This record gives sequence, C-alpha cells and structure tokens, in this order.
Amino acid sequence: MKGSAFYENHFDYDAMSRQAANIIAAQVILKPNCVLGLATGGTPVGTYKELVAKYAAGELDFSQVKTVNLDEYVGLDETSDQSYIYFMRSNLFDHVNIDQNFTNVPRGIVDDADAECQRYEELIASYGGIDLQLLGLGPNGHIGFNEPDDHFPVQTHKVTLTDATIQANKRFFEKEEDVPRYAYTMGIGTIMKAKKILMVVNGKGKAEIVKRAFFGPVTPEVPASILQLHPDFTLVADEDALSLI
Ligand code: GLP
Repeated sequence: MKGSAFYENHFDYDAMSRQAANIIAAQVILKPNCVLGLATGGTPVGTYKELVAKYAAGELDFSQVKTVNLDEYVGLDETSDQSYIYFMRSNLFDHVNIDQNFTNVPRGIVDDADAECQRYEELIASYGGIDLQLLGLGPNGHIGFNEPDDHFPVQTHKVTLTDATIQANKRFFEKEEDVPRYAYTMGIGTIMKAKKILMVVNGKGKAEIVKRAFFGPVTPEVPASILQLHPDFTLVADEDALSLI
C-alpha cells in the first residue's frame, strides 16, 4: 500500500468528498479516455456531486471516459430506484457528458448468473483494465459486495449478502424485506488489478473497521485488508473515520 491516509484538522465529509473528487478529476485530466471503476453507497454521493460541479464549471470532460461499477443487486434493474444503475444515473451519469453506452453496471436481471459474471470480467479486460477504482467500505469490511469469508473470491461472482450488510443497507429501502438477498460483485482479484485504488470512508461508525482493515492482519475475514497489498492505494477519510488510528 503506497499510503496517504489523509488527515487535516476539521477534515469532514465535504472535505473528504472534495479531496476524492480532485483525485478522480486528476485521473480524467491526465488520461481523458481512462476507465473509472465506480462505487455506490452513501459515502461517494458527495464525491459525485463535486465531480458534477467541476463538469458544470467546465473543468472536466467525460466524453471519452468509460466506467465499470463494482456491483448490483440481483433482481433489480434501472426501473428500480434502489438499483445501482439508477443510483449512478441519478448521481453522476445524467449530469455529465459521459457516453452512457460506455457506462457499465452488472445486470441485476439475467437468466444466467455465471454468464453475466463472465461477461463482466471480459468487458473489463476488453477495456484494458481499470485505471482508477473508487471504493467505499462496508461496516463489516466488505468492498464491493465481497463479504467476510474464509477466502478472497477472485472474479466477478454472485454473493449471498450477510445479515450485517442487509441491516446496513436497509436504510435505503422502504422495509427490510425489500433488501435483495443476493448481489453480483466484482471479485477481490478484479478490484486488486485496478492500477490505482481510492477509498472514501466517513463517520465514527466506520472507525473500528478502518483500524481493523488497515492496521490489522490481511485476512478474508476483513476483505478490505487486502488493500494493504495494493501498490497504489489511497484512503481519503474524514476525521471521525480515522479517530481510532
Ligand atoms: C454497499 C456497497 C459498497 C459500499 C458499502 C458502504 O453495500 N455494495 O460498495 O462501499 O455499501 O456503503 P456506505 O457508503 O453507504 O456506508
């Protein structure tokens, strides 16, 4: 891990979001036809807002950018406002000049799950891999939807969501029963192949898992801990998330 845990006085959610957006913007400026790996969840919403603002100010051009998202709930598609494709369109894609033919999220409704996972891996390979992968951090240490396990799943695959994840994500749904029980996610190998990785984390609720992931042993019981082995990993967090380190 190259490092750069970011810390300043009063480094709050907005500062975290600005910092993360600056790093993504730098990637797009340096390589206008880059491949961005993107993430959903509450944490990156501010980062996307900042990117949209930079685009609106004429500072960024997404016309040649391609994107691949980490994950999608099984059983949801763009008609559901809880789907990750819907999230990406409403938070970013619909507000910038990206060519939506080159934005990709695993398809949540398919006949053949294995074929969809294979298609997604091949798609990423056909793009030449991911230049910069944005990640959030699940409260149980998951990245994408790679849940704590006894091994690191390598490729895009279908997962059964843990109860901890269902509990954490039910806030986005009307009721707990509506949270899908399965998802498609890039594997740990897919994520680790990205040339650069940027993680955003905020809030006291993540402080303990930040400590375990980045200052504890590398173990599949804390999937994010594998990022300690990535050669170009950047953690951008607010001061609450860093309060135990
Ligand atoms: C979801 C997503 C993850 C995300 C995590 C954290 O489960 N699959 O990619 O990082 O939640 O979400 P939040 O940012 O809302 O805490």
